[in-house]
Amino acid sequence: MSDGSIIELTNGTAAGCPFHLGENIGGRLPEYLGRHDFDEFYLVTSESLHELFGRKLVSQLTRAGISVNLITVAEGESVKSWPQLTALCERLVAAGATKDSIVGALGGGMISNLAGLAAGLVYRGLRFVEIPTTMLNLTDGALSNKQAINGALGKNQFGVYHAPLFVWADVAMLRREPERQHRSALVEALKNGLVNDVAWFDRMEQLLADGVGAVQDDLLGVCHEMIRSKLRILALDPSERKAGIILEYGHTVGHAVEFLAQGSLLHGEAVGIGMCAAAKVGIRLGVTAPEVLERQEHVLGRLMGAPVAVPEEFSPERIIEVILSDNKRRAGSAVRFVLVPEVGRVHLVDGDYETPVPEPLLKSALAES
Ligand SMILES: NC(=O)c1ccc[n+]([C@@H]2O[C@H](COP(=O)([O-])OP(=O)(O)OC[C@H]3O[C@@H](n4cnc5c(N)ncnc54)[C@H](O)[C@@H]3O)[C@@H](O)[C@H]2O)c1
Repeated sequence: MSDGSIIELTNGTAAGCPFHLGENIGGRLPEYLGRHDFDEFYLVTSESLHELFGRKLVSQLTRAGISVNLITVAEGESVKSWPQLTALCERLVAAGATKDSIVGALGGGMISNLAGLAAGLVYRGLRFVEIPTTMLNLTDGALSNKQAINGALGKNQFGVYHAPLFVWADVAMLRREPERQHRSALVEALKNGLVNDVAWFDRMEQLLADGVGAVQDDLLGVCHEMIRSKLRILALDPSERKAGIILEYGHTVGHAVEFLAQGSLLHGEAVGIGMCAAAKVGIRLGVTAPEVLERQEHVLGRLMGAPVAVPEEFSPERIIEVILSDNKRRAGSAVRFVLVPEVGRVHLVDGDYETPVPEPLLKSALAES
């Protein structure tokens, strides 16, 4: 279906947060936005995304009588920082934003995280609309309600849960995205299969046997499935603190290598490396069947061409140091991993989906990675 019709979902984590999904649906945004009372729409995006999509969107909105104030921000992971957050909040206020304004975030996860957090802070919370332009943000970030910037010691250390008024998900925008980014997003989707849905993992494995390019042929269908696989998990636990923690599979090491890579690894690539490291940890603990690692390395590495090993320049000691200061660390606890004993299932110890891992064992698994 690529005819401009809209699939109505909810983001599953906040009551009444609609997720409008379709292909070539940009022309209908004014109608949906116009259902809400507001004085001004502050569209936050980057210069390049403004050229690609923003200009057309702004003209569609203004033609419909919607007052739009464009705010462009820089690109790159460094955008998710205190100085950029402060600057954006101040710019929104200086530009005249009121409690009746709506902030729009047009971009990938970086812009969404920054604009979403600014929207959550200005006047203790402005409504905001998420318009994801990357596959990762459309099928993952925009479903989480998590808005955050990075700290000096790790990723996403400062943030809030702030649900969008609605998500406007037009997969047509993803057709302009580099294939490497699709590969990265697909890793996150495969992760959802690995922890919760073996049938979905099998289907993805079949699809990817023809290469990542096969996804383009049914972009809307694949994105819809990716969203469904994540919503299934989020519906169990919107806060991602209990059952939803299984979504963190691969993120313990993944976040650390992503942080250390300073932009040279994409989020999904880092998570893929982290999933392979987690499988090695699980095998050493006698929890994970070796077949899990083999299938992960086959699908991620051979079929998709994604990295599966920790980059040599990051020592096990440095990775562990970053893990220990990561935002997911719980008070008084050791390093903890979500582990997968077999594809589609997560290891549960005493009602906890996270397994404590002794540091020496982690160090040797990382050295092998
Ligand atoms: N909130 C969450 O739950 C959550 C989930 C996953 C990732 N994230 C965060 O998202 C960030 C990564 O975001 P991302 O991978 O979506 O991308 P991104 O925001 O990092 O953007 C990557 C690049 O793609 C470009 N781009 C974006 N859309 C494009 C398009 N349609 N065509 C061509 N180029 C395009 C951007 O300009 C940018 O240069 C990380 O900071 C990560 O921590 C957050």
